[in-house]
This record gives sequence, C-alpha cells and structure tokens, in this order.
Amino acid sequence: KWPQAVTIKEVGPRDGLQNEKTFISTKDKVKWINQLSRTGLSYIEVTSFVHPKWIPALADSEQVAKNILREKGVTYAALVPNQKGLEKVIESNIDEVSVFLSVSETHNKKNINKSIHDTLPILKSVIDDAKCSGKSVRGYLSTVFGCPYEGDISYGDVLKLCDELFDMGVYELSLGDTIGVATPKQVEDLLTLLLKSFPAEKFAMHFHNTRGTALANVIASLEAGITIFDSSLGGLGGCPYAPGASGNVATDDLLYMLHKMDIHTGVDLKELHKTAAFIQEKIGRPLSSHSLLVESNK
Ligand code: HMG
Ligand code: MG
Repeated sequence: KWPQAVTIKEVGPRDGLQNEKTFISTKDKVKWINQLSRTGLSYIEVTSFVHPKWIPALADSEQVAKNILREKGVTYAALVPNQKGLEKVIESNIDEVSVFLSVSETHNKKNINKSIHDTLPILKSVIDDAKCSGKSVRGYLSTVFGCPYEGDISYGDVLKLCDELFDMGVYELSLGDTIGVATPKQVEDLLTLLLKSFPAEKFAMHFHNTRGTALANVIASLEAGITIFDSSLGGLGGCPYAPGASGNVATDDLLYMLHKMDIHTGVDLKELHKTAAFIQEKIGRPLSSHSLLVESNK
C-alpha cells in the first residue's frame, strides 16, 4: 500500500523564511542551508529571485546563493518569477529554477502583479532560457485546492494549467495548497482526475498546514501514488500574498511519520532536529512543528 521511499524537497529557506518578520542575516541563512545540506536531504530550495520590495526577507538572494557550500548529491533550487530573476540565477551556482503560477486569477495578480494570460508567455521564456543555460525547471501551481480571494477552484482549470506547464517543459509540477484548506477527500478527487492524464511521478505535493490537515493530505497523496513532498523544517512559512496562510507541513513531523511507516527518505531526523533548533533560535519564537516541541522538552 505504501511506497518504499519518498523524496523530500526542503523549501524552508525559501517558503519558510519569505513570510518571517525577523530578517535572518545572510550569514545565518548560509549557515542553516549548509547544515541542511548535511542531513541527507537531496533537494533544498534556497531562496527567491523576486523583487526585494515584494519579499524583503529574501532580499539577499544573490549573496545567499553565492555563499552556500554545495554538497554532492544535493540539488539547490531557487524561485524565479521572470527574466530579471533568471538573469541573476544564471550567474549563480543554483542548479534548478522553480517557476510559479496560481490557478486563481486574483491570487496570481496579487502575487506577481499579472493576469494568468500575461504570466504564461513569461514562464515559457524563463523555462526555455533556463534550460538553455543548463538549469532544470520545476513548476508550482498555487491555490489548487482553494483561494483566499476566490474560494473554490475548478479542478478542470487545474488540469488545463498542468497541461500548459508540462507542454512548456517543466519536468515536475508541485501542487500547492497555498492556504492549507485541502482535505484528503479533495486530494483524492484532484489526483484521480490528474493521474488520468499524467503519471504520478510528474507531481509533488506542497501542503501548508494552516488547518492541521497537511499530514492527512500526505497520506491521501501516498495512497494515490505520489512520492515527492515539499516541506519546511519546523513548519516555518507561508505566502505573504495569501492572507492567513501559515507554514508548510513540517519536514521533521513528516519524517517522523514516514520513518515510523518504514518509508525511506534518506534524511537523518536527529541531524535535522539540530538544524531546526538553530533556525528556531534565530527566529526567536517556538516553531509550529510537533516533533521539534517534543525534542525541545527532552
Ligand atoms: P512588478 O512590479 O510587476 O515588476 O512585479 P515589473 O516587471 O513591472 O518591474 C518593476 C521593477 O521591478 C523594475 O525595476 C524591475 O527591474 C524590477 P525599476 O525599473 O522600477 O527599478 N524587477 C525585479 N527586481 C528584482 N528581481 C526580479 C524583478 N522583476 C522585476 N525578479 C514581480 C513583478 C514578479 C517582480 C513581483 O510581483 C514579485 O517579485 N513577486 C514575488 C511574490 C512572491 O515571491 N510571492 C511568494 C512566492 S509564491 C508562493 O509562496 C507559493 C508557493 O510556495 C506554492 C504554494 O504554496 O502554493 C510557491
Ligand atoms: Mg508555499
């Protein structure tokens, strides 16, 4: 029933930090990413090359990307909204570009200041040029289970945009429950539809844990055959352009559950807890993950 192994994509340094009021210094970001690189994670999204006025917490993306120590076997990714962001990535030692788009017209406009129609050609040119420069490209689709502005989302619209983004050449799509509204029933319904058209290996799931349903949604995704999950250490995070959005499913809670289910991740949970303690201290408040709380009370 369960897969033997899953891939964890750590998005803490990007999704986790982008919404934090406390500015984490470049030195500490680099230190944290270097620690994460030594936990057995094979994928880390390290920053965003977006406008610093829109996301001040990641205004030092170039410095972060330049100074991290690259560990063999780890893919280092960064979020990129347009050509301007891509120019900076090409000069950096980032391996992979993540492009992003929302299924909700209003969220897309609030997040990147453009309609979906006007965003698609921009993504196409970013994807083409990134690939020409030897970078792999992953895509995010946001608000697939619901939008803070528009409410319910049509799964037909999700399918259409998956089609367009795969056609444009992303190798994988991460389906974002941006505001953490999804339930296992919704996950099953959406994946049943999408997996009629695409193989399960083409999707990652990106659950925010706003209403505490993220781990339940992971189980529903595993049952549908998904084996790639985005998560954020300690449960850090949220989208600043989605009011009320809170962090991703906590990497440490996810690992605790998967390892106890004999599902292999290749990540050392003990080492991960140490790096969670480091970033928790820098953030200056307890993070939301449960397994970290248990560790802190030991
Ligand atoms: P805009 O204002 O429409 O940009 O912002 P523009 O193209 O009109 O340019 C205006 C100025 O910005 C120009 O400078 C550009 O050079 C500059 P000026 O000539 O005025 O001096 N500019 C840039 N500067 C730095 N980096 C760039 C860049 N692009 C233009 N890349 C823009 C459009 C996309 C830039 C802006 O809306 C933006 O940065 N948005 C990012 C929002 C964001 O990062 N949101 C969070 C990430 S998405 C998320 O969290 C969801 C996800 O986790 C999945 C899920 O949970 O569902 C992925
Ligand atoms: Mg997110």
